[in-house]
Amino acid sequence: MGIKIDTVVIDPENNSRELILNYLAQIEDINVTQEFNDVLTAMNFITDSRPNLIIVDISQKTQMALDIIVKISNTLKNSKIIVLSYDMSPEIVIKALRAGAREFLVKPLIEADFVMAVEKLKDLILGNINDTTKCKVITTFSNKGGIGKTAIATNLAVEIANMTKERVALVDLNMQMGDVTTFLDLNPSFDTAYVINNLERIDEGFLLSTLEKYNNSSLYVLADPPDLEQAEVITSDNITTLINILRNVFSYIIIDTTASFDGKTITALDNSDLVLLITIINLPSVRNCQRCFDLFKRLGYTKDKIKIIVNRYMENEEIKVEDVEEVLGHPVYFKIPNNYFTIINSINKGLPVCEINPHSNIAKSFRELAALLSDNFTYTNNQKPQTREKAFNLLDIFKKKEEN
Ligand SMILES: Nc1ncnc2c1ncn2[C@@H]1O[C@H](COP(=O)(O)OP(=O)(O)O)[C@@H](O)[C@H]1O
Ligand SMILES: [Mg+2]
Repeated sequence: MGIKIDTVVIDPENNSRELILNYLAQIEDINVTQEFNDVLTAMNFITDSRPNLIIVDISQKTQMALDIIVKISNTLKNSKIIVLSYDMSPEIVIKALRAGAREFLVKPLIEADFVMAVEKLKDLILGNINDTTKCKVITTFSNKGGIGKTAIATNLAVEIANMTKERVALVDLNMQMGDVTTFLDLNPSFDTAYVINNLERIDEGFLLSTLEKYNNSSLYVLADPPDLEQAEVITSDNITTLINILRNVFSYIIIDTTASFDGKTITALDNSDLVLLITIINLPSVRNCQRCFDLFKRLGYTKDKIKIIVNRYMENEEIKVEDVEEVLGHPVYFKIPNNYFTIINSINKGLPVCEINPHSNIAKSFRELAALLSDNFTYTNNQKPQTREKAFNLLDIFKKKEEN
């Protein structure tokens, strides 16, 4: 099965909606995720699920519908919109196109016109998907174990693939100790050692057939080698070569690392466009983050390259995010809520959290992070700090410790 175009249909008329669904059913690769009879009700679903294609009738409540289309097209750059209306006055057509619609069709619909419009946008969507000129390498890192590197790498990779439909490679660099295959319940036939031992044979076809495809998505997983001998012969240079080759085939590479500054990990960090430095809010973790920053500075990484992700975030903690930012001299990029129940359930079942409970705070959070890190969406992060009382000064504690 190929990649599907997720589609949402909004039309207040039952007959017309039925008709549209019938037409769509005959077009290949279209997957109608939801139908609505009201644009306002559809809004939340659309912002959460980020469909590739939105077909919306604006004959009724026209101005409100247009306002909502503006909002959608401003936030979801990758969603293409087809507007339908009984009113075909130039004024309405222009308004719809200005609002961000890609196609305007007059009702009652003519099947051939409708199919042609959908096919055109489908090509556009798939064209974007197969554009391999760019690739973003994102690595999760922390020099502490058990902090959430694998949980974040895995769920992020799943979400970016779901959202963008572009090819995503999830690479497990925890030589011999990897968890990615457990998190996604995979039993791959090949691993990093195999790919590295076959570097001279590698091309797009080889990679796509060797990496384990996750379900029917555009996510491919490269597991760690299962035995020590194979893991040990892999050099840092091999890692650079591997990443460079993957860059030609994938739009995103998400790398899960081990909790140490060994050569292979540093090579992966060197080759990354973004490093997600994962921490939780407690003194030892923040202290470790500081050490990581010191190292990153020595390695010459720019500040932009490093994004601090606070994992297991809880409101009302004694140490505040602002304290952490002050100590590290670096903004916290994103907070992932503490949700032990959903995460454990997901790990035990070998499913990403979006498949355990798509409405959970943590699934939403991974979706938001994916939207922020993927290039297809303009997105405003509304996780902005509120004013607060300072519980105590973390910076003071650090200073005191340094003085001692
Ligand atoms: N956001 C979260 N909320 C609650 N528990 C979490 C969260 N993220 C991770 N965990 C817990 O932390 C454990 C370690 O996560 P993992 O991703 O394996 O860490 P690492 O890869 O850094 O060693 C997981 O088994 C899970 O129980
Ligand atoms: Mg791990």
